[in-house]
Amino acid sequence: MRMPIEIEAPEQLGYDTIRRNLSESSVADRRLGELNVKLDDVLLCYGDHKGSIDLRDSVASLGTGLDAEDVLITAGASAALFMVATSLLDRDQHLVVVRPNYATNIETPRAIGCDITFIDLDFESGFRLDIDRIEAAIRPNTRYVSVTYPHNPSGVMISEAELHAIVALVERKGCFLLFDETYREMTFGQMLPVAATLSPRVISVSSLSKTYGIPGIRIGWLICRDPKLMQLFLAAKEQIGISGSMIDEYVGYIALSQRRDWLEPNNLLIRKGFELVKAWIERDEFVEWVEPQGGCVCLPRIRPDVKLDLPTFYHRLYSVHGTYVGAGRWFEMPDNYFRVGFGWPTLTQLSEGLDGISAAIRDARG
Ligand SMILES: Cc1ncc(COP(=O)(O)O)c(C=O)c1O
Repeated sequence: MRMPIEIEAPEQLGYDTIRRNLSESSVADRRLGELNVKLDDVLLCYGDHKGSIDLRDSVASLGTGLDAEDVLITAGASAALFMVATSLLDRDQHLVVVRPNYATNIETPRAIGCDITFIDLDFESGFRLDIDRIEAAIRPNTRYVSVTYPHNPSGVMISEAELHAIVALVERKGCFLLFDETYREMTFGQMLPVAATLSPRVISVSSLSKTYGIPGIRIGWLICRDPKLMQLFLAAKEQIGISGSMIDEYVGYIALSQRRDWLEPNNLLIRKGFELVKAWIERDEFVEWVEPQGGCVCLPRIRPDVKLDLPTFYHRLYSVHGTYVGAGRWFEMPDNYFRVGFGWPTLTQLSEGLDGISAAIRDARG
């Protein structure tokens, strides 16, 4: 089923209709020219089904003790998540998924028809993950536990010790951990290790879309140190598209090779965006948040005791104040929650957009 997050996405609405786009979960998109890539010599053959060895080597170098055989290149993280779900789940299996979560981590298992236990994070507990709840939800037929950190949409984190505890749990229970770490490197906070380095029972998923601002090449990956699982995932990839785009893989390789120059200024910018949002939360009496600790998004809410008409809020926000945010319904949350991305807009757009939210709240209070 099509999800609100896809139907209402800014690229479907039209980027040029939004003056202050606070709905994105990446840094600003970049042009090919900025990467200084020469494409003339790229051979347009079917490539290595696993992905080019240069690119896989670069991805493997992101984690300690990984090699290219542990990496499968996919068409974005979303394709990797789709492959994991369709390879591991069937109607007789059970899944534990922490929610909110990225749509593919919920909608694909639903389409497969497996049993799903949702572990819902809630505002009042600081969106904190309770590992005991995961443990209690695991059954003999649980195939995997699905989590994402830095968390989208709230930006909350788990500590490295908590990550180790979840890994130990899935090992003890004999299931797998799907760790969607798409925002790992794009953060004003601390970076977790690549989760798949911790155990062959972990599948890490990530991509170049968010941190590197190049979602228009569809390059993501999954990493797993279990060769049997990797065979399964490779078979899934071959059924979907045989191999990846030679152009995308080459551009992705070049972008990753510029990583050292890119990450620091990028993350400095994200920190500045975070500070702006923090100052806004402190001065606006109608909004509150769980302060994010990583990534480039957060999930503030209009205080539940504030009476206002939410459809009017969203309507005025976009059509009068030229500002767009990710509505709570995108994440199966109530609409008084909304996601703010502080890595994509310029600092001026971000600041004006935050004022736009304040103004729309006042409009909707009548
Ligand atoms: C947590 C998470 N995982 C995966 C994706 C998919 O991104 P892509 O397919 O562009 O890599 C997204 C995109 O928003 C995301 O937020």
